[in-house]
Amino acid sequence: MALGPYFSPSPDGDHAFTVEAPKIKFGVGSLDEIGVDAKALGMSRVALFTDPVVAKLEPMEIAKRALIGAGLDVVIYDEVEVEPTDRSFKAATLFAEEAGVDGYVSVGGGSTIDTAKAANLYATYPADLLDYVNAPIGAAKPVPGPLKPHIACPTTFGTASECTGIAIFDLLEMEAKTGIANARLRPDLGVLDPRSLMSLPAPIVAANGFDVFTHAIESLTARPYSHRPRPDHAAPRPLSQGANPYSDMACSEAIRLVGANLIRAVEEPDELSAREPLMFAGMLAGIGFGNAGCHMPHAMSYAVAGLVRDYVPAGWETDEPMVPHGISVIVNAPAVFRFTGPHCADRHLKAAELMGADVRNVPGERAGDVLATQVIDMMRRTGMPNGLSGVGYVKSDLDNLTDKAFPQKRLLDNAPCAVSRDDLKGIFADALSYW
Ligand SMILES: [Fe+2]
Repeated sequence: MALGPYFSPSPDGDHAFTVEAPKIKFGVGSLDEIGVDAKALGMSRVALFTDPVVAKLEPMEIAKRALIGAGLDVVIYDEVEVEPTDRSFKAATLFAEEAGVDGYVSVGGGSTIDTAKAANLYATYPADLLDYVNAPIGAAKPVPGPLKPHIACPTTFGTASECTGIAIFDLLEMEAKTGIANARLRPDLGVLDPRSLMSLPAPIVAANGFDVFTHAIESLTARPYSHRPRPDHAAPRPLSQGANPYSDMACSEAIRLVGANLIRAVEEPDELSAREPLMFAGMLAGIGFGNAGCHMPHAMSYAVAGLVRDYVPAGWETDEPMVPHGISVIVNAPAVFRFTGPHCADRHLKAAELMGADVRNVPGERAGDVLATQVIDMMRRTGMPNGLSGVGYVKSDLDNLTDKAFPQKRLLDNAPCAVSRDDLKGIFADALSYW
């Protein structure tokens, strides 16, 4: 077909894809303009969400100044929990209900933006927490109508929460990570000011850069939208539709930007010019995976993060064992590429080339290996752990990891090929160490 052979029609496959594009303002100084933006969206009394750490940083000062300077009433909620839970979502909702606001501004990481989305939803349309949560854990009820306006101002990059209609949290009683996914949760405006990244330590920049890379590469190598089973009627398509020409465009550029800038951003932490393109790449990949969806490295990452025993990452403000999201994804990725490479060799080769590899004369059957080698090299140069063994796993953990990852059906179905339980265990085994 004219859009490329990857999107050739299949007998029962979908015939269309939809594009949900966020509204974004990007650039140094954009945070200073949010007062005007908030007024333009009809806000007069604003709930300003952040977490206790970001509350003391410069982006919050800038945000407050901009909102108050534009004549808005500002009520601050600085108790966002960094891994939000049903309990913290409820606490934020209670605040929002009592604050009597007509709009939201969130300044922080994905947890802060997600918490503002949830508080906006439950304060606007009160319901039992599980009503809007994704099935099968929740009832996946549709959001009844529009929410109050929300401006999201990330102080990190990678999660792309400012681009998506997704809010993730831990449901404490089930010890499960779940979320709410609805286009109405997408912020009305994402304000990406690269100055907000200057306080991020280098290890976090590295991990987030690899999160961006995996969003982009998983979207690029996802099953094509034309091979996703055709819906019964013209109902809204899901957020994960599979690779499509629009997400290809955004994700290819995101991969190129990560390849060109990640090492420098880690080696030169004071260099705004290295962080700026990474923030832009995070946004592009967010737009891409918001339409195409991720697949295996992310499906496997939840097991890697969830079963952690004693790995404490350097550079994060914690003494507790944890595997940060970007690390939990990238430790799987090279092993996944070796497995998926033969199923869409051109796309793996293109990604390797965008990352800086010389792919001349590489035969298609080696495409996955070449991409894996390129990524492993970048992992070493940016201080990433050496695969699963680098975050404390051993051979006897393989069954547990597989059991926890295999039920991630929505993600695994989005892979470019079928994945059996044995396949998955084999990929985890290959991911134990890379060098
Ligand atoms: Fe991610």
